[in-house]
Amino acid sequence: MYVCLCKAVTDKAIRQQVEAGACSMRELKQNLGVGTQCGKCVCQASDILDSALSKQ
Ligand code: FES
Repeated sequence: MYVCLCKAVTDKAIRQQVEAGACSMRELKQNLGVGTQCGKCVCQASDILDSALSKQ
């Protein structure tokens, strides 16, 4: 599922980043570009980040 349409970032890509060691929105923004254009996806991306981190 696409979370960020502007940058074509999927929930899977966010989970893969967490597996690779990312633990903040700042890192996701740097690595994937998620939330760097219109910003509408930031809340959802942050929820996915939190849920992926809590499963570690
Ligand atoms: Fe992510 Fe626009 S949908 S920046």
